[in-house]
Amino acid sequence: MNENHGMYVRASAPAKLTLFGEHFVVYGSPAILASINKRTSVTLQPNMMNSVRIKYGGMRMDVPIINGRVHKIGMSSRSFLYPILSCLFDIQTQLGSLSGLDVLIESQVPHGEGLGSSAASCVAAAGAFYSLFFKKDRKKIFKAAAHAERTIHKHSSGADCFASTYGGILHYRPTSGHRRISIKKKILFVICTTGIKHRTQNLVLRVKRIKENSPTEFRELAKRANNICSDARRALVFGNYEALGILLTENHELLKKLNVSHPKLEEFIDICMNSGALGCKLTGAGGGGSVIALIPNHDSRNIISDIGKKIPQSMLAELDFDGIQIAQGLNSIKKF
Ligand code: PMV
Repeated sequence: MNENHGMYVRASAPAKLTLFGEHFVVYGSPAILASINKRTSVTLQPNMMNSVRIKYGGMRMDVPIINGRVHKIGMSSRSFLYPILSCLFDIQTQLGSLSGLDVLIESQVPHGEGLGSSAASCVAAAGAFYSLFFKKDRKKIFKAAAHAERTIHKHSSGADCFASTYGGILHYRPTSGHRRISIKKKILFVICTTGIKHRTQNLVLRVKRIKENSPTEFRELAKRANNICSDARRALVFGNYEALGILLTENHELLKKLNVSHPKLEEFIDICMNSGALGCKLTGAGGGGSVIALIPNHDSRNIISDIGKKIPQSMLAELDFDGIQIAQGLNSIKKF
């Protein structure tokens, strides 16, 4: 019998906005990210069956366990399960064998909209698995989540998983770690989702081709992206949001040069700027997805309402400062 039987663990992880540096961060440049209060949660509960039963919305999958090992047949086409499966294999390797588990995934994060939905599910999955079988350890959770995300998009910079694990506003550099950015003044972002879903992997490959075909131009753009990121960090710390807005728009111009914008994103940016935003850019991989607009603290109500009238699928971003959250208890998943 499973020694954890009757126990459950639920881990939830936030989505994120990339404020600066997406795409360039894949090649070692810095990025600035902010976590937002839309979450994905993964609940694990040992069962008495010889299978891992996974439920996500209307989707369901039963993975048999044979001689303590997860049976891999038929998994490759179920991409929404990659993070779960990657964590399962990781845990299986560490424990030597697995027994039955129920896995319930719930998400408030729109998928393919540049808000880090896959990172949030990887972090929540890694957090739940680690906490059920080992001690909670953010460093290990981040490592396992970043590994899981690379099974979805193999060139991932790890930045999204990092923001989702630690929360808050972070200056992230793949090689030299991170710095938390503390802000003294309230910061308001509106997120406008286009509903045009992207695949991060395809857009990262599009940029990779540009980098390979025009290395000098790419280097020049990356240098400018680096400078924008340093200036943006200072503007955030000092609360100079006028300067921050200009930097956001400049960052968007660089992303346009990488050919990852989209006519709908450009339309939304024009609307937000005409409504009084201080600066706007696409966020995440682009090619659809979402725009973020920085709203001045004065007159914010009118500006937000004006954007809302013209772009109904817009919402005010609420920042999250907690990162991954883990709860444990007895028998949570009543029916599977
Ligand atoms: O669109 P998203 O939320 O998957 O963000 C992708 C961010 C990139 O910089 C384009 C890729 C990465 O791994 O950092």
